[in-house]
Amino acid sequence: MATVTNRADYWEKARESGFDLSWLEQLKENIQGETTNEFSENNTGRVEGSIPRGNVPQFGAYTFRTKKDIWAHNLTKLYQEFVTRQWSSATDIPWETIEPLPDDIEAAECQLATFFAQVEFVASDVPGRFISTMSPDYHEVRLVLLAQVMDESRHLDVFRKRALANGGGLMRMIDTVSDVVGGSTDNAREFTELSSRLHITGEGNVLTLFRLGELMAYNEAEKAIYRRCAQDEARHVAIGVLHLRYMNECNPERREEIHSYLDEGESRQSSGAGGENPAARNVLTSEALAVLLGGGKDKTDEGQKILMAIRQRQTKEYFQRLKSAGFDDRITNGRVNPALLEVYNPN
Ligand SMILES: [Fe+2]
Ligand SMILES: [Fe+2]
Repeated sequence: MATVTNRADYWEKARESGFDLSWLEQLKENIQGETTNEFSENNTGRVEGSIPRGNVPQFGAYTFRTKKDIWAHNLTKLYQEFVTRQWSSATDIPWETIEPLPDDIEAAECQLATFFAQVEFVASDVPGRFISTMSPDYHEVRLVLLAQVMDESRHLDVFRKRALANGGGLMRMIDTVSDVVGGSTDNAREFTELSSRLHITGEGNVLTLFRLGELMAYNEAEKAIYRRCAQDEARHVAIGVLHLRYMNECNPERREEIHSYLDEGESRQSSGAGGENPAARNVLTSEALAVLLGGGKDKTDEGQKILMAIRQRQTKEYFQRLKSAGFDDRITNGRVNPALLEVYNPN
């Protein structure tokens, strides 16, 4: 057999020998970029951009095959940030800094940790249900949701560990099933509905609270937990803001529908129904927060005042998200929930 000295000759020889090397042509066409297909015919788990086969059953039967139902710009960059900011509850939290606490403080910290462990479960479970229903052509959306699920698993784990770390243990389950003011995150039927409720409203409130974690932490371990969870939560909120911004620009006929999700979210945010906002009124968790913020069960009046300031900060940050996503017209045209305006701008 003749010696082959360069790659082109090698391919030529291979073709002469009967190999089908047409797939190599893919190298020339395979330019990295954002998914552009407005509608996906891909029902077979074929990786976006790869060459189809004719003999594969349509086993995917994906619910979401239209780009404008699920898309957002810059998801690839956001995913890279997810990947580079992972951490471990076992090695990145200075657990040794936790020392015995007064019973009321320990109980309140554990009640708060129980609350977070429970809501983190929802925050991984619900997006998780959507991932396999999206066409693989929109893999960028799948990737950020998969990364969110990983983050939430870590949050579930770290708050459970905190509850068990110092003698308090897991406390009372919180009420997330009441559904008196509209749909909850758990029963969102569609991605924009989910994203509005989960990323924009629910996780937005939790993000503000994590950012203020120093106020309710009693040691370096708790500070580290809140600080790291805040960084993660900011990415989850970003998924929602990027999605709503895309919807606002490319799908304006759905704006009214999105506003109605925000109506529901604001109602729950201000009343505490459904338990998405740990700092809202009438929630078991807000009692725990008042103990932690005030410095004991006999100082909850002071704690309530700080809690009011936290609610105000939550509302400010929510209004900023609306502006960033292009839905702040509800603030100027009077549609926003009056209870939130009251918190934002107390007389
Ligand atoms: Fe989380
Ligand atoms: Fe989250």
